[in-house]
Amino acid sequence: MQNVLEIVNWYKNNLRDLPWRSTKDPYRIWLSEVILQQTQVNQGLKYYYAFLEQYPDIQSLANADEQEVLKLWQGLGYYSRARNLLKTAVLVADKHHGIFPNTMEEISKLPGIGQYTASAILSFAYNLPYPALDGNVFRVISRLYNIRLPINEQKNRPVFLEILNEMIQGVNPAEFNNAMMELGAMVCKPDNPKCVICPVSTFCLAKELGSASQLPVKAAKAAKKKRFFNFFYIKYNDGYYLIKRNEKDIWQNLYQLPMLETANELDITDVFDLVDKVKSLFQREILSSGNFSMKYLNSRKHLLTHQEINAIFFEVNLNEQPLFKNNTTLFVNADSLQNYPLPILIEKFLLSL
Ligand code: ADE
Repeated sequence: MQNVLEIVNWYKNNLRDLPWRSTKDPYRIWLSEVILQQTQVNQGLKYYYAFLEQYPDIQSLANADEQEVLKLWQGLGYYSRARNLLKTAVLVADKHHGIFPNTMEEISKLPGIGQYTASAILSFAYNLPYPALDGNVFRVISRLYNIRLPINEQKNRPVFLEILNEMIQGVNPAEFNNAMMELGAMVCKPDNPKCVICPVSTFCLAKELGSASQLPVKAAKAAKKKRFFNFFYIKYNDGYYLIKRNEKDIWQNLYQLPMLETANELDITDVFDLVDKVKSLFQREILSSGNFSMKYLNSRKHLLTHQEINAIFFEVNLNEQPLFKNNTTLFVNADSLQNYPLPILIEKFLLSL
């Protein structure tokens, strides 16, 4: 197809030199793709290099501690991706002799590898003709063909994939997928697309119809679930009391300050009243012995993909070592805090102290 050749030729002349583009190593490609699902290229590069320095190959990642992997991942969010990274490394090292499988069927069985990541690895590392349909590519196809189907509805994926499957025939699959992503990232941008430099503007239905600014269509998302977390910074000696989050919930296996979640928002307009209320909750739920005083420090909102975390921070002062109801609360010396993966909300709070 002429438009495909134009896109690939444009790519060859305009590509950004990104490190995962000059390798066929499936480990590096997989790592880059998992990171790039969480962040933009600029920030992604830092994480990519940090991971490669610590884990230059799949075997070294397979041997890693989960806590260390989570620490390196800190700030990217969606921590199940990091836990899956480790699980997949272990499986590839143990069950596939350290070599990523090269079939859709086998590679899709690995934790955290969905259709997008599988297609990216199979095309970039093994040059197999699987289109990698990410947000950039959705946008390019929506506009080229003036498709008004919401791109965030799973049931519409096949429509886009059918077009891409046809486009990818007869060209180099790695080049094709890179070219589509690059066109979306650099030219066919969400706002103010640069149609004047676009290699396929003469093929583009949205350009012809003037609909580019309305595309792609996204269905309204469900409102974020609001949660109310009350954190306690317990001042005692030179360190922090932390608890590992074990539940199957956000931040699984990360560390946080002792916390009470309430079903409803607490009123912070009267901080004395607030502290009074929270103090008795703290005494009932968290502390099993020790005299303490408490003060309100600050509150902040933290947005996740599907949740809005409303956090209130309290400082607790005591003059004897506290005993906790939860016997997994641990004391971490200030100078070893850097070894503990923390939600960014908590890290920012601790840095602000
Ligand atoms: N975003 C996701 N994958 C990418 C890649 N391989 N190159 C550039 N941006 C990307």
